[in-house]
Amino acid sequence: MTSLTVNNQPVQYRLDPATPLLFALRDASNLTGTKFGCGTGECGACTVDIDGQAVRSCRITLAAVEGTFVTTIEGLSRDRGHPVQQAFLASNLSQCGFCIPGMVMTAAALIRANRDPSDDDIRAAMTNLCRCGVYPRLLEAVRRAARIARGDENIVPPASPDIDAGDAARAVPALAPPATPAPPQS
Ligand code: FES
Ligand code: FES
Repeated sequence: MTSLTVNNQPVQYRLDPATPLLFALRDASNLTGTKFGCGTGECGACTVDIDGQAVRSCRITLAAVEGTFVTTIEGLSRDRGHPVQQAFLASNLSQCGFCIPGMVMTAAALIRANRDPSDDDIRAAMTNLCRCGVYPRLLEAVRRAARIARGDENIVPPASPDIDAGDAARAVPALAPPATPAPPQS
C-alpha cells in the first residue's frame, strides 16, 4: 500500500510499489489528463507536480512518491484559471493537444519558482516534446503566463467548465459501464 495525496485528496494505492506513478494516476485514479507518450522520460507528456517540482511520472515509482503531494492537470485549477492555462488558450498554443497537459504542468512549476523567467530559463525548463511543433509559439506563451501570474497582463478568462477533478475523472466516457442492452422485441 502506498499513501500519498493526489489533487488534495488522500489516496492509498494497493499496487506494486514498483508501478510507475503515471499508471497509478491513469489506470487506478482515472486521471487521464496525464498522458503516456514515450514511457522513457523523454517527451514530458506525463509531467505532474510533485511537492512543487515538475516530474515525469512515467519514470518515478509509487514507492518513491510515498507521502508526497501530487498535482495533475485535473487538479491545477478548478476553472482553467491558472495563468498558464489562460496564457496557452489566449496564445492558441495547442494543436492536437496531446503534449499540452505536460507542457502546462512544466510551465506552472517554472513560473511558480521564477516569476520572470528569461527566454533561456524557459528553454531550459520546457524540454517537453511536441509532435505538432508548437515551439515557435511556446516561448511567448510562457512569457505571457508569467506576466499574468505577476499581474502585468490581464486577459478575459475562458468560461468555466464548472467541473471538478473528481467529476472529470468519473466523466471519462470510455470507462463508463456499458449500457444494458434493450430486451429483444417479441
Ligand atoms: S511518457 Fe513520460 S516522459 Fe514521455
Ligand atoms: S500539440 Fe500536438 S503534440 Fe503538442
